[in-house]
Amino acid sequence: MQHEAVKWEAQPESESARKKLLDIKGIKKYFPVKNSIGVTKKFVKAVDDVTFYLYEGETYGLVGESGCGKSTLGRTILRLTEPTEGEVFFGGKDIFKLSDLEFRKERQDLQMVFQDPYSSLNPRKRIGDSIAEPMVIHKIGNSHERMERVFDILEKVGLHPEAYYRFPHEFSGGQRQRIGLARALVVNPKLVICDEPVSALDVSIQSQIINLLEDLQEEFGLTYLFVAHDLSVVRHISDRIGVMYLGKMVEEAETDELFANPLHPYTQALLSSIPHPNPKMKQEKINLKGEIPSPINPPSGCTFHTRCPLATDICKQAVPKRVEKTPGHFVACHLQQ
Ligand SMILES: Nc1ncnc2c1ncn2[C@@H]1O[C@H](COP(=O)(O)OP(=O)(O)OP(=O)(O)O)[C@@H](O)[C@H]1O
Ligand code: SF4
Ligand SMILES: [Mg+2]
Repeated sequence: MQHEAVKWEAQPESESARKKLLDIKGIKKYFPVKNSIGVTKKFVKAVDDVTFYLYEGETYGLVGESGCGKSTLGRTILRLTEPTEGEVFFGGKDIFKLSDLEFRKERQDLQMVFQDPYSSLNPRKRIGDSIAEPMVIHKIGNSHERMERVFDILEKVGLHPEAYYRFPHEFSGGQRQRIGLARALVVNPKLVICDEPVSALDVSIQSQIINLLEDLQEEFGLTYLFVAHDLSVVRHISDRIGVMYLGKMVEEAETDELFANPLHPYTQALLSSIPHPNPKMKQEKINLKGEIPSPINPPSGCTFHTRCPLATDICKQAVPKRVEKTPGHFVACHLQQ
């Protein structure tokens, strides 16, 4: 059934009262692809015109199949990779327009935690020194103050003070993720982009790290952009969820709303793959045809049309606009325009 777009005269008070921490508008990241003689004629459209925002203090879950651009989106927001186009407003400033020096000051507030924190730790450096490193980069405190701060943060992430003097190889996967978190939090950031922080961990350890992330969020008022492919993890941790497909954000909504009322055929397919908690309420799994196309030469119009069970002619020709169907529920699909 098609729904009419509802016109809302005013935002509900709770919505309008929420402050945006990041406002991301039309960001693109195209990676050049060189041919055999070194000439760039094609681009990998890893992130292609993505618009969304993060409210202060929330957890925003980002989901989508492997290769849809989740990590590139996070890395582009933090300028770890040069953006192709777009704007990211943080504290009223477009951080893409700042000089490297100006951005370095803002960077303290914007940190990232990776799936494999081991790769970002120097194997020959003691953990205490690795955790202190971001403070050295941002010229925070003297060596004594930094040491005190590291001991404090070790305690916050549930590590023994003795960890300060140990080396990365002496820790388990879950402990290394605690170290990764300590390194991100030591400079007291506002936003932490968590890129699959629990995907490589055993299930029992995953829940410990998720509980820790939630506790730290409450204690420090953190905002998380949480990238994951496990929908049950994302459902548990997120206030709102964004669904990506082939470099585009196809739908976003508050978590309960998205699960109760998914509007985009791709979201519907993704959600149909999660086992229902009540086996009597078994839902039918929607199997998508074909493989995810290459982001080098993505399909015309709606990039999902090659796999969408509901595609019509217009889907091949026109890119669907992002529309707000109900407050905070955005979708890009011709069936919803
Ligand atoms: N440095 C790069 N150079 C060229 N292409 C890249 C680069 N980094 C990523 N890509 C491509 O961009 C697309 C998006 O990749 P990305 O790693 O952002 O996806 P993802 O959603 O994080 O996937 P996963 O779930 O596997 O982590 C992929 O096609 C990938 O091959
Ligand atoms: S725009 Fe068309 S192809 Fe794309 S999701 Fe909607 S119905 Fe499917
Ligand atoms: Mg990734």
